[in-house]
Amino acid sequence: MQVLESLLDNFKTELNSIQKIADLLNLKSKYIGKQGPLADVMKNIKDATPEEKRTLGSKANELKNTIEALVSAKMLELETEEINQSLLKNKVDFSLTDTVLDKGLQAAGLHPVTIIQQEIEDIFISMGFEVLDGPHIEDEFHNFEALNIPATHPARDMQDTFWFADKKHLLRTHTSTIQVRGMKERKPPFRFVGPGKVFRCERTDASHEMVFHQLEGMMVGENVSVGNLIYFMKTLLTEIFKKEVEVRLRPGFFPFVEPGFELDIKCLICGGKGCSVCKHVGWVELLPCGMVHPNVLKAGGIDPEKNNGFAFGLGLDRLVMMRYGIDDIRHLHSGDLRFNSQFKTF
Ligand code: PHE
Repeated sequence: MQVLESLLDNFKTELNSIQKIADLLNLKSKYIGKQGPLADVMKNIKDATPEEKRTLGSKANELKNTIEALVSAKMLELETEEINQSLLKNKVDFSLTDTVLDKGLQAAGLHPVTIIQQEIEDIFISMGFEVLDGPHIEDEFHNFEALNIPATHPARDMQDTFWFADKKHLLRTHTSTIQVRGMKERKPPFRFVGPGKVFRCERTDASHEMVFHQLEGMMVGENVSVGNLIYFMKTLLTEIFKKEVEVRLRPGFFPFVEPGFELDIKCLICGGKGCSVCKHVGWVELLPCGMVHPNVLKAGGIDPEKNNGFAFGLGLDRLVMMRYGIDDIRHLHSGDLRFNSQFKTF
C-alpha cells in the first residue's frame, strides 16, 4: 500500500519534466508496464489477506486508470505542440505572391484539364462517389478481356492501341480499366469515378489527340436503372456548364455495356450552327454510357443475377474546349505558355 501511495506523486513529478513523445512512452511503461511497480504489487498480492487483496486490487486499478488518463492528456498536449512547431517551420507566406509578381516572376497555374477534372471530382464526391486511380500501363485483361472484348473481337480494332514490345502490355486506351480494378476491390453497392490520361495511336486533328483525358464512372447495386444514369449525367452537365444544356441520347455500341448509348450535347461553340469542333453537325459527342454488361460484372467478381449497374466515360478534353471556347484540341498539349497562362487560378 505504501508503494502505491507514493507512486502517483512520483509519477506526476516525472511527468512534469517530459517534453518528448518517446520519453512519455518510456515513463508510461516504467510505471504501468510489465516490470513496473504496479505489476510488482499485483505479483505479490497472493500473500495478502482477502480483505487486503480487495483494497490493494482496487487501489492498483484506480492508479492505473489515473496514470493512463494523465498519459493520454500529456500525449495530446505533446502532439499538438509538435503540429504547431511544424506549422511554424513550414508556414506559407501568401502575401509573398505580390512580391514575387512585382519582381517579374510568374505565378504558377493549373492546366485547364486539371481544373475541370478537379471540379468534376468534387461534383461526384458530393453525390457520394469515390475517386479512384489506375495505372497508365495495363495488360490485355484489364483493357480488353474483362470488358467483354475477347482477342478475336472486332472492337479491339476500334481503339488503336500502343503496344509494348512484349505484346502483353499496352498504354490504356480508355479509363474503363479502372472499372475492372474498382469492381474487384469492392462489394456492391458502390459508385466511383476514375479520371486519367488515355492513349491511342491516332491521326491528330482539331478534335483528336494521341493522349487525351477521360473520367470513367460506375455505379453498381441492386436496382440501378437507366433513369439513375440520366439523372447523374444531367446533374453533372448542369453543374459544369452552370446552365441547362441540350442533350440527346443515341444508341451506341460498346462491348462492355448493354444497352449502350451516346450522349451528345448541343455544341456550345457555335450554338448548333456547325463548326470545326462539332464537325459541322451542331452536336458534340460527349459521353458514351450504358448499363454494365453481365460479362463485365462477372469478370469483376459481381453476381449479375443480384446486381446491375451503369457506366460512362466522359471525355475531359472536349469539355475543356466547350467551356473555354478552344477550337483545337492540340493547344492543350502544345506546351505554349501563351496558351497555358490564360488559365491561372491564383
Ligand atoms: N471506354 C469507352 C471508350 O473510351 C467509353 C465508355 C465508358 C463507354 C463507359 C461506355 C461506358 O471508348
